Amino acid sequence: MNGKTERRLKSSSLIAGGIFLIFILFIIGCATTMPQKQKTGAMLWGENCNRCHNVRTPSEFEDAQWDVVVSHMRTRANLTANEAEKIVGFLKVAN
Ligand code: HEC
Repeated sequence: MNGKTERRLKSSSLIAGGIFLIFILFIIGCATTMPQKQKTGAMLWGENCNRCHNVRTPSEFEDAQWDVVVSHMRTRANLTANEAEKIVGFLKVAN
């Protein structure tokens, strides 16, 4: 590889990194201004399920166990039925 291609590779990875960063900031921006109702299960999980204890990853439990866990945690976390449903949906898809 000559110096020129190396430089070109470096700058393109910088650009890719920049685009990625903007993308992440965009997502975070959306998440904080988005009304609670429009949030996805993954967002709600990320915001609520780490408030009291370390976040439990989707793979830690089976589908049926998540039903039970979230029905318990729903009352603790003060979630609406709709929010709990979305979180369970996300956990089941991701486990
Ligand atoms: C208001 C605080 C609070 C919030 C918010 C909360 N939890 Fe919990 N969670 C607890 C407490 C306290 C325990 C331990 C006592 C118990 O099992 O009831 C617990 C236990 C658990 C356990 C059982 C762990 C085990 O090893 O048996 C899981 C799984 C869990 N939480 C998942 C979640 C998920 C998923 C959410 C988001 C929907 C959530 N928690 C939100 C307080 C909370």
